[in-house]
Amino acid sequence: MKHLLFISYLCFYTFVSWGQPNLPKSQIFEKGVVVSAHPEATLVGSNILKMGGNAVDAAVAIQFALAVVYPNAGNIGGGGFMIYADKKGNISALDFREKAPLKAHKDMYLDEKGEVIKNKSLYGSLAAGVPGSVKGMAEAHKKYGSLPWEQLIFPAVKLAKEGYPITERQANLLNEYKERFLKYNQTPNAFTSTKAWKKGDIFIQSDLAQTLLRIAKKGPNGFYKGKTARLVRKHMKRNNGIIATKDLKNYNAVWRQPIEISYKDYKVITMPPPSSGGIALGQLLKMVESRSLEKIAFEDPLRYNILAEAEKRVYADRSKYLGDPDFVKVPLQGLMDSLYCTNRMSNFVEMHATPQQEINYGMPEGYESTETTHFSVADKNGTLVSITTTLNGNYGSSVVVEGAGFLLNNEMDDFSAKPGTPNMFGLIGSKANQIEPNKRMLSSMTPTIIKKDNMPIFALGSPGGGTIITTVFQVVLNLLEYKMDLEKAVNKSRFHHQWTPDLLFLEQNQNDESFVKRLNNIGYKIERPNFLGCVGAVQIREDGTFLGVGDKRGDDCAAGF
Ligand code: GLY
Repeated sequence: MKHLLFISYLCFYTFVSWGQPNLPKSQIFEKGVVVSAHPEATLVGSNILKMGGNAVDAAVAIQFALAVVYPNAGNIGGGGFMIYADKKGNISALDFREKAPLKAHKDMYLDEKGEVIKNKSLYGSLAAGVPGSVKGMAEAHKKYGSLPWEQLIFPAVKLAKEGYPITERQANLLNEYKERFLKYNQTPNAFTSTKAWKKGDIFIQSDLAQTLLRIAKKGPNGFYKGKTARLVRKHMKRNNGIIATKDLKNYNAVWRQPIEISYKDYKVITMPPPSSGGIALGQLLKMVESRSLEKIAFEDPLRYNILAEAEKRVYADRSKYLGDPDFVKVPLQGLMDSLYCTNRMSNFVEMHATPQQEINYGMPEGYESTETTHFSVADKNGTLVSITTTLNGNYGSSVVVEGAGFLLNNEMDDFSAKPGTPNMFGLIGSKANQIEPNKRMLSSMTPTIIKKDNMPIFALGSPGGGTIITTVFQVVLNLLEYKMDLEKAVNKSRFHHQWTPDLLFLEQNQNDESFVKRLNNIGYKIERPNFLGCVGAVQIREDGTFLGVGDKRGDDCAAGF
């Protein structure tokens, strides 16, 4: 029966998707929509909706497809978070973040002098946390899924087995990371090819296809036990890694209470710890809500100053208080308290950038890749799903598990290897986020759903390490304060401040030099990254139709029916 299902699914899928899908960045559909970072994965999700699957079915299928077609961030060797909201008023938050292996310890990335050893938490098998994605998807499917599990994984199996044409962006990235793959992998795999990749080349991952097939047939046991687990163990032994059989067997994904933030007429539903994203987004919204932003022009330096000053204060709090809630007491209510947030901005001065050293963390009541990828789904029942998933850096630790074909994350770098020492995103942390066995590392991922009149209307999120929070924050403000349509809200220019370093990051293509001078004059030191974040968002519109918007900054695209 399962075999027949597989064949019929493959026929359907082949018929509708042969060749490189050419999908729009933004489009309205009648019955449902998905947006993801790769056209093949977007098409997989939209086909699942067409076949009668719901938003969670589509999301599960996209997660596995992204592990194949977007291997720099999509994954089965990483983790992530999911936010769910439906028309009946149900909301949930699923934590499938990686965990520190049992053999991890707080000084594991320090030398004998107590200094952080460069790159040790970033590359190679020791950089990996215990992966959570497969358990996460199994949990989501158990609670909300409607189509058979294997049907959701077969498209990924096919894409891995037969290959798919890579985009130009992907070809460039694979070429850029070639040396690293060769350095950190002892046995050849799909990523260690020495050829020069170009757009349209077919990328085949045979070992990954077999691993996915085991997951399709056996559920999470096809990953956390049996052959895949044995391959991970063997790989770890050969490569000085510490993930043990017991770590895989014991991994659990956790349903958590989502954070709900009231903002004007809206409810923003987002991720609690171990992500810092939800608390930070809540604090940011509360710090700016009373500042009549809608009356301040979008390109007025005052708007930049209000938002950046709030961002500095929030990231200072983040560095002090946030960590895995199963290990440290996070003062969630205190940090999100309206009065606390208003007081944090009490020393804000219009048109003056407060130097970093003059800002510290606050004292709340109850005291503690940039690569990642986001996808959003809306189905005909009015359910929204918002998932951000990651390996941490591009291609994670650069290590492919020998014989199993999947990339391992380098999420251990999201712990604070040493209090006060910045991680790859320049973020610092304290004891709350120090390494402990079985603990989840702090994240910035902020999958978010916005409700109005108790109906879910927008789902959005972004990659971008520490910049995820400010990206989501600014898109939310573009929608709720500036009443931009979704496409404009997503594509509008963005900026970022994270308290330390004391720099305001402005996207390259925004603002001319005279504007930058005006910001310098009020005290900002400016950095110009190419872009900040890459948002995938969907909307259920007032007329009941569905809009999907993929950010102009990536290969993100929409599909539906
Ligand atoms: N690895 C990026 C994050 O979780 O924030």
